[in-house]
Amino acid sequence: MFSSILLQLLLTVSYTASSPIQRRALSQNDIIGLQVASYLENLELSLYTDGCEHITDAQWLAAGSPSTFQNDVCTIAEQQQNQTGYISSTLEDNGISAPQACNYAFSYDSPMTFVRLANQITSIGLGYYLGSLNDFSPALQTVAASLGSVEARHDAIVRNGMGASPFPTNLDVPLSSVWAYNLAQKYITSCPQQLPIDLLPPLAFNGMSDRTLNFGWSPNANNFSTPAGVTGQDLYLAIVHANVSDPAYQKVQTTGQGRGTVELPEGLNGVVYAALTASSGDLTYHELTTTGTLAGPAQLVLS
Ligand SMILES: *[C@@H]1O[C@H](CO)[C@@H](O)[C@H](O)[C@H]1NC(C)=O
Ligand SMILES: *[C@@H]1O[C@H](CO)[C@@H](O)[C@H](O)[C@H]1NC(C)=O
Ligand SMILES: *[C@@H]1O[C@H](CO)[C@@H](O)[C@H](O)[C@H]1NC(C)=O
Repeated sequence: MFSSILLQLLLTVSYTASSPIQRRALSQNDIIGLQVASYLENLELSLYTDGCEHITDAQWLAAGSPSTFQNDVCTIAEQQQNQTGYISSTLEDNGISAPQACNYAFSYDSPMTFVRLANQITSIGLGYYLGSLNDFSPALQTVAASLGSVEARHDAIVRNGMGASPFPTNLDVPLSSVWAYNLAQKYITSCPQQLPIDLLPPLAFNGMSDRTLNFGWSPNANNFSTPAGVTGQDLYLAIVHANVSDPAYQKVQTTGQGRGTVELPEGLNGVVYAALTASSGDLTYHELTTTGTLAGPAQLVLS
């Protein structure tokens, strides 16, 4: 005990002496915030590296993408490498090990399926920086915002490559760390370590006809008061869109055990997120995305 205090003191002294400016004390929130950032950046790094290595210039041109596209994807991969390195060294300079990369499953088999996947995954990283900004101490808020604005530029490039508007909405959707971490799980097959964040029961979208959205969840995976959606308990799909202070709560029409539909409200664009909840709308956004989620969230790209 005594020697560890002494050691800490010595380390503090030597750090102070050698690098008085770079050394900053990270709060507990900074540490978990940077660990989630690193976790998400590793996912993006792996995706863009994969795309850079496996899709040729000729394939991009044949798919009708801009002539710079292969180079753009590889430059994004390099920026992801730099961002990941920056976050890791910030953690390591403070004696905290950065999360190692996980094993990922990326289901794409063409340039177009790659850019759609890249839009989905990059939107998660972007939403995370927005949603977690206030959790960081002031010195790191600018860093988080800078990382997030670069994510937004990457996303605009891939959206342009998929023939969609690079700027589909006035506002981007912020994501809590719980939501961002759970959304990332869809692409992860195994991981050397988990972060200390709850894993929520998954929610899966099974297609949409007109504005009727079909989805499913595992009714036994959580603590519904009755077998979910069969009798008794009303369930809602909370749809979080660009106006985050105004989520749409749509009552679920159950179509079977762990299956249901809702009508999507009109006027939604870009990327939205939805979660199954027992609340009809009395939760704050923070409550919904932390304790109020029964299953999900799931991401839906509407335009
Ligand atoms: C990555 O960082 C290195 C070293 O700072 C820099 O030379 C390089 O230009 C950066 N790459 C990109 C794509 O920004
Ligand atoms: C479900 O309920 C059990 C026992 O009441 C509790 O230990 C567990 O943490 C709950 N799980 C969730 C996801 O709320
Ligand atoms: C968001 O929704 C709230 C509540 O309906 C509304 O008061 C506000 O004007 C909306 N904000 C924007 C930017 O549309």
